[in-house]
Amino acid sequence: MPPQPSSPFPDFIYGTAWKEDRTAALTELALRMGFRGIDTANQRRHYFEEGVGHGLAAAYNAGIVTRDDLFLQTKFTYQPGQDHRLPYDPAASLSIQVAQSMASSLDHLATDHVDSYVLHGPSSNHDWTDADAEVWEAMRQERDAGRTRLLGVSNVSRRHLQHMAADRAELPAFVQNRCYARLGWDRAVRSFCHDHKIVYQGFSLLTANQEVLHHPLIASLTGASLAASANATPAQVVFRFAHSLGILPLTGTTNPEHMKQDLTSRDIELPPEAVQAIEALAG
Ligand SMILES: NC(=O)c1ccc[n+]([C@@H]2O[C@H](COP(=O)([O-])OP(=O)(O)OC[C@H]3O[C@@H](n4cnc5c(N)ncnc54)[C@H](OP(=O)(O)O)[C@@H]3O)[C@@H](O)[C@H]2O)c1
Repeated sequence: MPPQPSSPFPDFIYGTAWKEDRTAALTELALRMGFRGIDTANQRRHYFEEGVGHGLAAAYNAGIVTRDDLFLQTKFTYQPGQDHRLPYDPAASLSIQVAQSMASSLDHLATDHVDSYVLHGPSSNHDWTDADAEVWEAMRQERDAGRTRLLGVSNVSRRHLQHMAADRAELPAFVQNRCYARLGWDRAVRSFCHDHKIVYQGFSLLTANQEVLHHPLIASLTGASLAASANATPAQVVFRFAHSLGILPLTGTTNPEHMKQDLTSRDIELPPEAVQAIEALAG
C-alpha cells in the first residue's frame, strides 16, 4: 500500500526504542522500506531521540521522504522513568518540564511540530492524579500552540481513562499500550477507546504473546488453509489480526526482511471467523 500523506496517521508505526547507536541507520532503513510513522520518546534511558533526528535527516537528504510525508510521535516522560540524562530541569514545575521536553524533542527531530505527543505513563498505576492533570493541561497548551497536532496517553488502564472522563479532561486521540493476548488483547481498554473514538496503538504484539505465535491455530492460518496468505508467517498473522481489530500496531524490528513482512501483513486475507478465533484464544 503506498504512503498516504494526507491521512492523519499511518496504519503501521516503526518504534525506535532500544536501538542506541543503530537508531539513525534503522530509522532511515525503516523509511526506505516504506514506514511513514515513527515513534520515539525524549527518554534517553530507552530511546535515542537525537539519533532518530539523524535518521530523518538522512532520509530527507536521500530524497526518500519529506517531513510532510511523516507522522512523528514522541513522548513526555516523568522523572522516575528517566535516568540522569533529563530533557528538563527536574526542579521546575511539571508544566515547565513539559515545555522544556517538547522544545528538546523538536530540536532533536529538527521540526517545528510533531504529529502526536504522548504522556509516556501516568504518575500512578491506579489513578489519574493531579500531577497527570497538570501535565495533560501543559500538553494541551503545546497542542494549542501548534507544536503537536494530536495528543496521546500510554501505559494506561481503563480506570485511568474513566477517571479522565469523569474529570471532564479532554480525552486523548491515541492510547498506546502493551497488548497482551491473555487480557483479551487489552479488551477493556480497547472497548473504551472504541466507544470514545480513540485510536488504540498496540506494542509488544509479538514479544508479549509468544504463546499465541506458537499456537496451532496461528500455524494453520499461515498455511494452505488461506490461499492468499499461503506464505504468511505467524508474526504477519498477528499483525494482520491486530489491524482487523482496529489496532494501530507498532513494530521495532531491526531486520529489513521483517520490516517488509510487517508492512505486507496488511495485505493478508483473514476471514472474520479467524479474527474471532484468535481474539478468543487467550483471555
Ligand atoms: N509506550 C511505551 O511504554 C512503550 C514500551 C515499549 C515499546 N514501545 C514502542 O513500541 C515499539 C515496539 O516495541 P515492541 O515492544 O513491540 O518490541 P520490538 O522492539 O518491536 O520487538 C519486536 C520483536 O519482534 C521481532 N519481529 C518483528 N517483526 C518480526 C517478524 N516479521 N518476524 C519475526 N520476528 C519479528 C523483532 O526481532 P527482529 O529485530 O529480529 O525482527 C523483535 O525481537 C518500540 O520501539 C517503542 O517505540 C512503547
